[in-house]
Amino acid sequence: MGFSYLIPVGNPINHTKSKKIEWTTVLTTMKVLLATEKPFAKAAVDGIRKEIEQAGYKLELLEKYTQKAELLNAVADADALIVRSDIVDAEVLDHAKQLKIVVRAGAGYDNIDLQAATAKNVVVMNTPGQNSNAVAELAIGMMIYAFRNFYNGTTGLELKGKKIGLHAFGNVGRCVAKIAKGFGMEVYAYDAFCPAEAIEKEGVKCVKEVPELYKTCDIVSLHIPATNETKNSINRALLSLMPKNALLVNTARKEVVNEQELLQLMQERTDFKYVTDNKPDLHESFAKECADRYFTTPKKMGAQTQEANINAGIAAAKQIVDFCVNGNTRFQVNK
Ligand code: 3PG
Repeated sequence: MGFSYLIPVGNPINHTKSKKIEWTTVLTTMKVLLATEKPFAKAAVDGIRKEIEQAGYKLELLEKYTQKAELLNAVADADALIVRSDIVDAEVLDHAKQLKIVVRAGAGYDNIDLQAATAKNVVVMNTPGQNSNAVAELAIGMMIYAFRNFYNGTTGLELKGKKIGLHAFGNVGRCVAKIAKGFGMEVYAYDAFCPAEAIEKEGVKCVKEVPELYKTCDIVSLHIPATNETKNSINRALLSLMPKNALLVNTARKEVVNEQELLQLMQERTDFKYVTDNKPDLHESFAKECADRYFTTPKKMGAQTQEANINAGIAAAKQIVDFCVNGNTRFQVNK
């Protein structure tokens, strides 16, 4: 038996609240695919299922898959797709003949080919803010780990009184700022898009130029997305400005750091530490050359808490239902 659901007539990408949307009723079974190479906690999957089934749709799971072919196969008859950092490229979109919407349950959508999705009239959304606290807590945890010399028992440093620089003041940056203030840190931020007043309202010092942030702060925590403009932008010129005993924390994306230049700098500056939740391409070299000043998580785990899984996963399911039923495109990122 099929379910009826409303879909917009014409190109769903062009919806705006002001435009009149024409709707048509379609009799079919709507399949929502949850494809997570790194699965959500069971409580999150249960919550997603509840949202999807309450709407009369069918949820299919593809978890812990190891081959792209598994995703290509599963997506073939999916109307909606929920992913995490799973790659949704042109090939995946080509196979997804019925796909209307992809929701990245999380913040960064650099794993999705937006151009290819737009060309196929597939709406892409993210769920901003839903996993930010988890990522922020990990960033702070990694700072303490590095400042206490990776818990090797030798004399370390405290966060209290240190200057922390947030490179971007989005949802994660704001959460880090709140926690850092609790530790008695002096918080600075640079954000190309956020007005100074909005930064200062949070009790954070606004820095006007990127180099100033690196020059001023003992710790820099990266919260920029991976885009053509930001890739490789955290380079030697910036990092070499940092003061003695500098620490770079990366819970953003590995692509934003120029690894070759960071490695060279760390070989020269034995006071410089790097901790990252994104295993670098040059991991072996960092581990060999800077063993006592470098740490990476074995698998990206910033958003890997039950709370973040529930928040982001259920938000994704709700956004799909709201899009299909009401045409709501509030979180669309390929407008
Ligand atoms: C994000 O962009 O939301 C975070 O990097 C988390 O990614 P994940 O869902 O792959 O853990």
